[in-house]
Amino acid sequence: MIKVVTIIGARPQIIKAAALSRAVRTKFAGQIKEVIVHTGQHYDKNMSKVFFDEMGIPEPDYNLGVGSGSHGSQTAFMLQKIEDVLITEKPAFVVLFGDTNSTLAGSVAAAKIHIPVVHIEAGLRSFNKSMPEEINRIVCDHTSTLLFTPTRAGLNNLIREGFKPHNKPPYTSDNPGVFHCGDVMYDNSLYFGDMAESKSDILDKLNLTSDGFVLATIHRDNNTDIPERLSAIFEALYRIATENEIDVVLPLHPRTAKMMKLNLNADLYKKIESSHHLMIVPPASFFDITTLEKNCKMVMTDSGGVQKEAYFFKKPVIILRPETEWVEIVESGAGKITDADTKKIIEAYNYFEGTGMPEFPPVFGDGKAAEFICGEIVKDS
Ligand code: UD1
Repeated sequence: MIKVVTIIGARPQIIKAAALSRAVRTKFAGQIKEVIVHTGQHYDKNMSKVFFDEMGIPEPDYNLGVGSGSHGSQTAFMLQKIEDVLITEKPAFVVLFGDTNSTLAGSVAAAKIHIPVVHIEAGLRSFNKSMPEEINRIVCDHTSTLLFTPTRAGLNNLIREGFKPHNKPPYTSDNPGVFHCGDVMYDNSLYFGDMAESKSDILDKLNLTSDGFVLATIHRDNNTDIPERLSAIFEALYRIATENEIDVVLPLHPRTAKMMKLNLNADLYKKIESSHHLMIVPPASFFDITTLEKNCKMVMTDSGGVQKEAYFFKKPVIILRPETEWVEIVESGAGKITDADTKKIIEAYNYFEGTGMPEFPPVFGDGKAAEFICGEIVKDS
């Protein structure tokens, strides 16, 4: 039996871990034993536990209880605690997802004590090192032994940084195995798409009709923490909602909730609060967000995961960032980058309203990425 320690911490990682955990339980039960470590980076029920419950992920074997903090203190706490777990568990591999501080801590802790790291969602780059996630991804990729890229762009980025896709086993962090396998989040969208809609009552609860609303999410620190940027985005959402009489549904990340109070001017805050069309709701569960994504007419987001899910469900997406790692979405015409620019956001809304449906070529794999990853773990152990 191959023991792997899976480290998760933030909401999107819990979602990605669901796909791997499902593949382990259904197809590799006799070969892989998974020990789940939750760093506690996200801890509110609606940022964490609800995803375990809905997606059938086993309870974590460890919860490190890190909570919130500055990058340095949060990462340092996790690094120390993860090292303790790894020394106790002695796994064959540590599995990490994406690019959060939990990913960074896991990669450094494991690599320093010579436990091979498996990085799922490897190779993504924004080419913007002011994003904490860009640093986290680069460190994790360069300490990994097995790297799994969700897109061709991810694979090409790794090759550009000197990774060799034709390395032969045995793989090590100096001779890493690089595999292009598709996106585990796409696995989830196929598996959970219909189930989510049948289990969620969010459309009724919010009195929404299919194709009759826009879904928005905002949580990136460079949007929430910079008053001009946060105001520009909210001004656009308010104007789109009001001028088009369209409901804009915004499930609110706790960071954004806090920063709106600090960073929006009183007038804008009052307009938003009194708007009937700008609907601010608590963070959505996985079934609810999936249902919203499947039924909206358009998505506006600064989240990487929500950009992709919009694409999986064939919805145009307005990207509230200066760039994206998911370049295929923009290249296909299904996504427009507007940054936090009120005018550009409104123009992009009008553009997608005025044109027909964009194309959504299949660029995220075949829905079996997690099984492929488990297969490689078994082969390479
Ligand atoms: C983190 C990830 C980001 C990912 C996002 C998904 C890093 C550097 N960033 O950003 O890549 O896209 O998760 O949501 O790891 N908070 C709560 N309750 C919670 C969690 C957070 O109130 O359960 C609040 C706290 O005020 C906290 C703030 O949100 O300080 C930010 O949380 P944090 O985990 O530091 O970063 P995210 O913005 O969530």
